[in-house]
Amino acid sequence: MSKKYLITSALPYVNNNLHIGHLIGCLLPSDVYARFCRAMGRDVLYVGGSDEHGTTSEIGAQKENMPVEDYVEKYRANHLNAVRDFNLSFDLYGRTHTPQHEKLIHELFNRLDSLGMIEEKVSKQPYSVDEKKFLADRYVIGTCPHCGNERAYGNECEKCGASLDPSDLISPHSAIDPTSPVEMRETKHLYFKLSAMQDKLRAWVNSRQGWPKTAVTIANKWLDEGLRDNPITRDLKWGIPVNKEGYEDKVFYVWFDAPWGYVSISQIANPDWASWWKNPDCHYTQFMAKDNVSFHSVFFPAQELAMDDNWKTVDVLKGQNFLNFNGAKISKSTGNGIFLDQALDIAPSDCWRYALLASAPETDDTDFTLVRFAEIVNKDLNGLLGNFVSRVCKLSNKNFGDTVPSGAAMDETLAHQVNEKLAELTGALEACEFRKSIVALREIYGIANEYMTAKEPWALVKNGDMAGAAAVLNECFQLIDLFARISAPFIPDAAAKIQNIFEIKHDLSWPTMYEHRIEAQEKFTVPENLFSRIEIELNKE
Ligand code: MF3
Ligand code: ZN
Repeated sequence: MSKKYLITSALPYVNNNLHIGHLIGCLLPSDVYARFCRAMGRDVLYVGGSDEHGTTSEIGAQKENMPVEDYVEKYRANHLNAVRDFNLSFDLYGRTHTPQHEKLIHELFNRLDSLGMIEEKVSKQPYSVDEKKFLADRYVIGTCPHCGNERAYGNECEKCGASLDPSDLISPHSAIDPTSPVEMRETKHLYFKLSAMQDKLRAWVNSRQGWPKTAVTIANKWLDEGLRDNPITRDLKWGIPVNKEGYEDKVFYVWFDAPWGYVSISQIANPDWASWWKNPDCHYTQFMAKDNVSFHSVFFPAQELAMDDNWKTVDVLKGQNFLNFNGAKISKSTGNGIFLDQALDIAPSDCWRYALLASAPETDDTDFTLVRFAEIVNKDLNGLLGNFVSRVCKLSNKNFGDTVPSGAAMDETLAHQVNEKLAELTGALEACEFRKSIVALREIYGIANEYMTAKEPWALVKNGDMAGAAAVLNECFQLIDLFARISAPFIPDAAAKIQNIFEIKHDLSWPTMYEHRIEAQEKFTVPENLFSRIEIELNKE
């Protein structure tokens, strides 16, 4: 039986159209890794979906004057289009507003409660007098006590990353009605006893490997500061109702329910879900942007460990830094960035996939521009990959007809060079280091181009050495077959086109070594150009 791999991508809030930051932050890296694992013959469960609860949806719906259910559907439709358009190969792109999810959360809460991990506490929380309600999370805005940001939310400051309690905010006011007086009033909430998990969690974090530096730093910062019990209920209407007496008009905190969405979505995706989620031998990788790291490295695993029910905790947590666009933050309100429903008007999906992976913000925040985008596509995809495939097919077709010419033994120098880079590429994908993997992939394309330039099959034809030309072209067809296999996780559309060049459909399994799989005399067709050059007018920048 092949080893189980569980792969999850953070669940974006449905309060915004998706943009290239979401794509490179979690959706795309998780997809490439899932495709790579499947090509390696591993047993993959790959899920993602929409995070539908929380004040982001509720406030967004109020601002757009719609019922929250309709608002959620509106943005979810946009997200589903992106999943389709960018070839994201989720087993299921699910959602958190489902009966299955609610049932799971109720069971898990009962489990924590029965273990004595839940505590009721009365605290003073900001209450908006005119609106007649408590202000939770994003409903309350005020000054961050740590960094002075005047637009910090009740649960977190996006500027310095601090996790906040609404009572921490200086001069709190309502996000919806800033003129309404705010008083501190008493209310009761349920807390998860996170503090009790300090030692267990520290040992767990220390036992993890392969996390990027940013993620390790964030997890340790929380542990070093000492874990505090955290409230998991809210005075809100939209969310999962709290299944405890006395809490009828409250819901669970969105960050209590959302990560368990990975489980409820898996349950819907695959009846055999427990053979990933309850299996200590399964390998679990999570993908997310760095603002999600504390929830995935501290809060979620602490709950999983506290339950003592053999829940699979994350092995490798890939927390990406941020992608900026033209030197500034990508944002709905300023309109800066490329949104995924417009991106395909500029270039096909594969171009975005490749160029974004080549620019993945793996070690630092990274700036992306359309000029950079065009350079990468023109040089690598159009120049190195597309031209090679097209030249080989055309030259061969012209001189030897529509079948692959007879070859000779494998060129050992070439094979050695390719195998060295193939090992690098495989290693980088295993480690989910996507920039490195793109570098190795490009180098393999480069080796093939250099091989053809050095061997000059067109000159051999001209000099009448047809057997020599045939041997070189045969080798080039073997390289084309290799390209289909190693490109498939990154640029699946182009890989399928390359695969279709040959009459026989050769599988796209991941190669451990360069090999000759294409028989002489196998039929092929000259494909349309795989890529077109992208011309970016600078005034569009
Ligand atoms: N909705 C969150 C965001 O967009 C991410 C939630 S990830 C989850 O930042 F796993 F908790 F769902
Ligand atoms: Zn702050």
